[in-house]
Amino acid sequence: MIRRMATNPIPQFPAGFLWGVSTSAHQIEGAVDEREASVWDTFTAEPGRVKDGSTAAVACDHYHRHREDVALLAGLGVDAYRFSVSWPRVRFGGGRGLDFYDRLVDELCAAGVRPVPTLFHWDLPAGLDWLDRDTAARFAEYVSVVVDRLGDRVTKWITLNEPAEHTLLGHALGVHAPGRRLLFDALPVAHHQLLAHGLAVRALRAAGAADIGIANSHGPTWPASPDADDVAAAEFYDVLLNRLFADPVLLGEYPAGIGELMPGDVEADLKVISEPVDWYGINYYAPTSVGAPRGAEIEFGGLTMPAELPFSVRDIEGVPVTDFGWPVVPRALTELLTGFRDRYGDRLPPIVITENGCSYEGLDDQDRIAYLDGHVRALHAAASAGVDVRGYFVWSLLDNFEWAEGYARRFGLVHVDFETLKRTPKASYAWFREVLRAQR
Ligand code: NOJ
Repeated sequence: MIRRMATNPIPQFPAGFLWGVSTSAHQIEGAVDEREASVWDTFTAEPGRVKDGSTAAVACDHYHRHREDVALLAGLGVDAYRFSVSWPRVRFGGGRGLDFYDRLVDELCAAGVRPVPTLFHWDLPAGLDWLDRDTAARFAEYVSVVVDRLGDRVTKWITLNEPAEHTLLGHALGVHAPGRRLLFDALPVAHHQLLAHGLAVRALRAAGAADIGIANSHGPTWPASPDADDVAAAEFYDVLLNRLFADPVLLGEYPAGIGELMPGDVEADLKVISEPVDWYGINYYAPTSVGAPRGAEIEFGGLTMPAELPFSVRDIEGVPVTDFGWPVVPRALTELLTGFRDRYGDRLPPIVITENGCSYEGLDDQDRIAYLDGHVRALHAAASAGVDVRGYFVWSLLDNFEWAEGYARRFGLVHVDFETLKRTPKASYAWFREVLRAQR
């Protein structure tokens, strides 16, 4: 339990700093009959894939309750709302699926909340496959359809969400959809998503859109000890988690040794992948302690890490953990951001924290308040150290379908009763509203 309530007000961020909350389509919308199937529907239908045996067929029923949810956003006083557009919904019913986002964007604008859509948050249409290069081109076509319809009101865009996790969890370790366990043979999935990102940037710009970013997950990777083997393993993990996705986008190159493992004309593709972005989104939750392999499977954070991996993930001693077992280390966010500035220098565009949050039970969620308070201060410390940070989005507005964990992990500022679908703001909702008021 963390019981460290803020005694001082949160320091002031510059005018124009964007405060928001995030969600994603598959995790909140429901209304499964009003869209095509995604790889997540297929995966969820297989016994044992989702821990509590649940599905996202209804989720928060946001599709039917969006007005209530927009009212919650307005009541919170956020500047912006990051949601995702479901590709399987856009393909449904000859354009009817896109009507939903059209209405949502109108409602957000009317409520004074800036819409920030993510164009892919893991719900790949069933039948498509990121192992196929063609999926990248299909994605760009879909992006053109979305921007043609919403681009008159949407002024900030996100191409992909966490291609690292979609690759690692979905294709290397098999614990997320589509449930493949390819280990390093999953690398083409990373390349094709990165290519899809670059093609999407081009499609958005061709349609006149500006203010384009990507939401990548990053975190410091700490060697479990100063031993050379642990240091080497942590560096390798840093390549996989951080540099594999940031280097191609920001520098137009893969970390040493990776490009050779990628399919196609990698040099030509890197030119597309490194199309300049206007800002760089970071989803940050926790640092990772990494050591040399232990020659056996390791259970970590609900994952079984295969013995073949050239590293092992370890507990971080002496720090609190969330209900999910994730370590709570706000200063690691400052370290991450100053580290990014040092690594990428003037190639790094302004940073937006596109997700940060934690899972805890209960309506009086003082632990969540302490987590968010600590991380907002850590973000401010990075800004004071000269990192150009322009926004902060809490994950998440609502408790929702937490992928393979089902409904067991509650990340929301607003509690959802999954029997009645009733929404109840938590203590953290009131806390964030006051933070936002004080920043005006
Ligand atoms: C990152 C993902 O983008 C989001 O979908 C997920 O719910 C949160 N992390 C929490 O695990």
